[in-house]
Amino acid sequence: MDIVPEIARRRAYRSISSEALDPAAVARMLEAATLAPSCYNNQPWRFIAVSSPEALAAVRPHLSEGNAWATEAPLLVLVCTKPSLDCRLEEGRDYALFDAGLATMNLILQAEREGMIAHPIAGFNPKKAKAACGVPADFVLITVVVCAKRGENKHLVEWQLEREKGERQRKPREAVVFADRWNGEA
Ligand SMILES: Cc1cc2nc3c(=O)[nH]c(=O)nc-3n(C[C@H](O)[C@H](O)[C@H](O)COP(=O)(O)O)c2cc1C
Repeated sequence: MDIVPEIARRRAYRSISSEALDPAAVARMLEAATLAPSCYNNQPWRFIAVSSPEALAAVRPHLSEGNAWATEAPLLVLVCTKPSLDCRLEEGRDYALFDAGLATMNLILQAEREGMIAHPIAGFNPKKAKAACGVPADFVLITVVVCAKRGENKHLVEWQLEREKGERQRKPREAVVFADRWNGEA
């Protein structure tokens, strides 16, 4: 199938290098993020690109144990938003997290194009990570995107090494894509 190459190639790799990243590539990645569409063009995303040794040292301890593989990444992008920054429509349609997700995917795909891994994670202590970077309490730190070049990683546990080499795991298409009418579980 003719899938966009960056989409087809991207994987949530965990074998990362601590090597410094090209600042121009990082700038393009963040620019790509801000080019995402958003409800009423509200642009509810806020990114904190954490790369100074001091700031990295402040955030790293708040990654979950299972994300020890991420501790040597030279760049952590904190993605923040809050509901009041975006459309809040009937039937649960709060768009801030949705639009922050669209922007994050742009960032991830541009990173792929630049030869970087950009792996989003939810495994971190949000209160402590927010405090470490001065994020106001009413913002949601929805993900940390771990950015790095691929490399060796001594922190990977067995299942993570296996996952690294394995095929993508996906639900069958018919379980998630329906023609004309809902045809899934309630
Ligand atoms: C919102 C979100 C949270 C995730 N959290 C973690 C995490 O804390 N640690 C981790 O190693 N991977 C995390 N992942 C990566 C997923 O496990 C990975 O994307 C999924 O297994 C599919 O694999 P693929 O991205 O290689 O296709 C997360 C991905 C997303 C989108």
